[in-house]
Amino acid sequence: MSEPIRFYFRGAVHEVQGADPTQTVLQHLREDLHCTGTKEGCAEGDCGACTVVVGTLAGGKVELKAVNSCIQLMPTLDGKALFTVEDLQQRDGALHPVQQALVECHGSQCGFCTPGFAMSLWGMYLHADGHTPSRNEIDDCLSGNLCRCTGYRPIIDAARRMAELPRVSFDTEALAAQLQALKRDKLAVYSAHGTTFYAPRTLAELARLRAERPSATLLAGSTDVGLWITKQMRTLGDIIYLGHVDALRTLAVDGGMLEIGAGVSLEEAYTELCRHYPGELAELRQRFASLPIRNAGTLGGNVANGSPIGDSMPWLIALGSEVVLHGGGAERTLALEDFYLDYMKKNLRPGEFVRAVRVPLPRPHVVFRTYKLAKRFDQDISAVCAAFALTLDGGKVASARIAFGGMAATPKRAAQAEAALAGKPWNEDALGAAMAALAQDYAPLTDMRASGAYRMRAAQNLLRRFWLETRLDAPLAPAAVNAFAVGA
Ligand SMILES: Cc1cc2nc3c(=O)[nH]c(=O)nc-3n(C[C@H](O)[C@H](O)[C@H](O)COP(=O)(O)OP(=O)(O)OC[C@H]3O[C@@H](n4cnc5c(N)ncnc54)[C@H](O)[C@@H]3O)c2cc1C
Ligand code: FES
Ligand code: FES
Repeated sequence: MSEPIRFYFRGAVHEVQGADPTQTVLQHLREDLHCTGTKEGCAEGDCGACTVVVGTLAGGKVELKAVNSCIQLMPTLDGKALFTVEDLQQRDGALHPVQQALVECHGSQCGFCTPGFAMSLWGMYLHADGHTPSRNEIDDCLSGNLCRCTGYRPIIDAARRMAELPRVSFDTEALAAQLQALKRDKLAVYSAHGTTFYAPRTLAELARLRAERPSATLLAGSTDVGLWITKQMRTLGDIIYLGHVDALRTLAVDGGMLEIGAGVSLEEAYTELCRHYPGELAELRQRFASLPIRNAGTLGGNVANGSPIGDSMPWLIALGSEVVLHGGGAERTLALEDFYLDYMKKNLRPGEFVRAVRVPLPRPHVVFRTYKLAKRFDQDISAVCAAFALTLDGGKVASARIAFGGMAATPKRAAQAEAALAGKPWNEDALGAAMAALAQDYAPLTDMRASGAYRMRAAQNLLRRFWLETRLDAPLAPAAVNAFAVGA
């Protein structure tokens, strides 16, 4: 039986029935609700014109996060709250400080990007508690918004100015009560246009559904899957949504490993990871997509998708991380490198799904770095992503784990380069041998992001950079000042 999708919108509960389950939130807003303040630019999560804020109940509290409505599917809103640029104006007609600041600072010209900027800024305003945001916070908040008219300075000025204007509060407790009333305790099923959208609540429900429907599409944050619909025009078939399974949203430390549930968002996962690896992962976190993509996407989705140019896999593999697979009434744990069999082909049995990723915590004598090489700092896919983890014993390399993205059909370890380092002093001779060995480990492709020759040269130079930063005689750059990798 199909139940309606219910979400909180414009101060009331909004119900949807009969709309295609693969309809995006943006399509629903513009085409069905005729709320056209939210714009479509790219329809692939890149430009931010479609940014909205979604409220979710988590542990009794409301989380309000900016996401890209163009790649979120409408049924994922069930039990949540949706806010768009039309919600910012005050009851008395006055502009919200976010809007007022954009006006005062001349932060808008053609205005097409402006609703998205306003919503990203509102997302930051809600979390800022009145403090003036730092330049770094502003850059991160706006990392997913493109403007081709004003240049960014007036918008950045507006981000500072909004904190100086009289504060407008937001009643999160009232919203929590609204969302509590919409909460469902068991599996919700929504069907229309021949497609069924299943939203299980528990691991057991998810496992049963997965076993019964091994070919249904698993949907987590939709930052990969959304594009299959909007760009590749693929028909997905039935969908199993993981976003309401609380058991997938846990973070726990156990036996020297940080276990990250597959439903934990990239932003939450990297925040926690950066507590353990602050110098080593901070830059990658900031350069991973944009804040709205990290708010929606999950680490589990990044790992399960297994793109050869994904950013998490090289460093996860270099650190010796594991993936926990659940299905068929059992669980098994694999070293992450053994999960990837071939291009986009994973060691996943019918009925299995990724339950968690387990990441080793920092260990003495292990030096670790990861570097992303892309044409832009923010919101760009890697041409090459490198990760190196060496266990040092005195001046020698006791063992080496090296992994790259963008160099092969899967995220892959560099077995020859690792062998060239093992047992050797960590010096320039060993470095030279390992750099040469990378040419035996990989035969990278040429594509729109980089030529094969560039990738190989860049990979070798990233290894040199790692040595320069970690050499034992004259360390040049501690991890805490891990700089932008484009020039490597
Ligand atoms: C604008 C933009 C920028 C991006 N930038 C980056 C970037 O800088 N670096 C990068 O690495 N990626 C980037 N991505 C890709 C994407 O954001 C990540 O891969 C993200 O982690 C996917 O997670 P998700 O939860 O959105 O997955 P989804 O899109 O929901 O799912 C992805 C795949 O994984 C499967 N899946 C999801 N969860 C599970 C599970 N628990 N078990 C089994 N299968 C599962 C799905 O069926 C699907 O095949 C970008 C995407 C966009 C749109
Ligand atoms: S329309 Fe460009 S990010 Fe959504
Ligand atoms: S004001 Fe025109 S694109 Fe930003």
